[in-house]
Amino acid sequence: MELPSEALLGTCSHCQRLLLTAILLASMATAQLDLSPKNPDWVEGYRFIWRVSGAPTGDVNYTWYRGDRTMETNMLVSYISSPPSWITGPANTGRENVTARGFLNITKVEMRDAGNYTVVVTSPEGSQEATGQSRVWENLLQPNITVNTTSAVEFMDIVNFTCYPRNSGNIQIQWYQNYWPVSQGDQWTLSPDNRTLTGWVTRFQRGPFYCQVSNPIISERSLSKSLDIYYGPDSISLKSSPPTYGGRIESRLGYGVEMVCSTSSKPASRYRWLHNGIALESTTSIYNISAMSWADVGTYRCIAENPKTQIVLYSTVSLRVYEDSHFPSGIPYVLTQRLVIFFSIGVSLGLLSLIGALTFYLVSRRYCVMLGYWGQRDWKGRTGRDKGKAILKRNPSPRVSSTMR
Ligand SMILES: *[C@@H]1O[C@H](CO)[C@@H](O)[C@H](O)[C@H]1NC(C)=O
Ligand SMILES: *[C@@H]1O[C@H](CO)[C@@H](O)[C@H](O)[C@H]1NC(C)=O
Ligand SMILES: *[C@@H]1O[C@H](CO)[C@@H](O)[C@H](O)[C@H]1NC(C)=O
Ligand SMILES: *[C@@H]1O[C@H](CO)[C@@H](O)[C@H](O)[C@H]1NC(C)=O
Repeated sequence: MELPSEALLGTCSHCQRLLLTAILLASMATAQLDLSPKNPDWVEGYRFIWRVSGAPTGDVNYTWYRGDRTMETNMLVSYISSPPSWITGPANTGRENVTARGFLNITKVEMRDAGNYTVVVTSPEGSQEATGQSRVWENLLQPNITVNTTSAVEFMDIVNFTCYPRNSGNIQIQWYQNYWPVSQGDQWTLSPDNRTLTGWVTRFQRGPFYCQVSNPIISERSLSKSLDIYYGPDSISLKSSPPTYGGRIESRLGYGVEMVCSTSSKPASRYRWLHNGIALESTTSIYNISAMSWADVGTYRCIAENPKTQIVLYSTVSLRVYEDSHFPSGIPYVLTQRLVIFFSIGVSLGLLSLIGALTFYLVSRRYCVMLGYWGQRDWKGRTGRDKGKAILKRNPSPRVSSTMR
């Protein structure tokens, strides 16, 4: 322990004395002999070490007694510090001993060990004693568990678990499902002693289920049980190749058709197929037509049944022959529109070229006439017709010439 500095205390010697007294009292208070813990809980069959606190150090003897009185007949064991030695007393059962620090060591606690204990510590300064009281709790054995069934239909079957504790003492029983505590409610009913748990289950409550026995100190749980839970089918779907549109499959004659039915259930559904109300041979989820004929046309029904839940669902589709004449989708309409546009452009272009050709013809014809008109005029400005006349004049018939001479 550190004393306050002289500078602080030097001013007042009266204060110094008071402070020293206080420190002495405090150190005496911390040195108070005690047992730690004061009232321990022991578990049958386990080892326990009872600590001593506030004991003086150095040349110290420790003696432990049963009960709250230090009578010779109650003495368990004593430790003599010099020379180090141990003395056993008449109350010793062979399971009690003391360490060199004065701690009581009990190997394999028994139910009868519960009660008061006293330790006496002797040092050259004198002797002190401390008393404590222990409680002993039954060591718990693993409880057994049984269940009336290993499988159950969701929401339907009642399952009944029973816990068999293997301890006779005062114990509590708690049930667990998926590691969460189960409590009495809509789903589960507990017996007043919690030994039986009764209720229905859902598909998400397979387990593990177990019971746990406990006292305020320890707990022990049983082995766990799991259930097979049957459920569904909740829904059915029918897919096909070629695909189904609006409850219809269309396929060309001679082509293959496949229908696949699916459900989610436990155990797996059993399948049946009907064609126009007549049972087909297939007992799987798939129905196959390798080459479609007119005889295959009609209504198909897939029926799925869960043998455990007895829930039956079905789905229906109709198979038709695909006809080229009608378009099963909107795409050809777009094509016709395109064709219309294409043809319109073609017709317009044709008309335009026709008009163009005609115009050219007419214009060029008129131009040729004009050309002809001008071209046939000679240097004398006479037309062809005059030329002809002129030629006729240059080559006069003899008869005419003679007449002219
Ligand atoms: C107690 O412990 C000491 C030291 O471990 C040992 O020497 C002594 O024999 C023990 N006494 C009994 C009664 O078991
Ligand atoms: C411890 O016990 C021995 C034997 O009884 C005794 O001789 C010795 O004086 C004791 N020592 C103390 C410090 O009491
Ligand atoms: C409990 O299980 C144990 C084995 O773990 C067996 O020896 C005992 O007989 C069972 N007790 C009951 C009440 O079923
Ligand atoms: C039964 O279990 C409930 C919790 O589900 C618990 O509060 C109650 O103390 C238990 N009773 C017994 C006798 O185990």
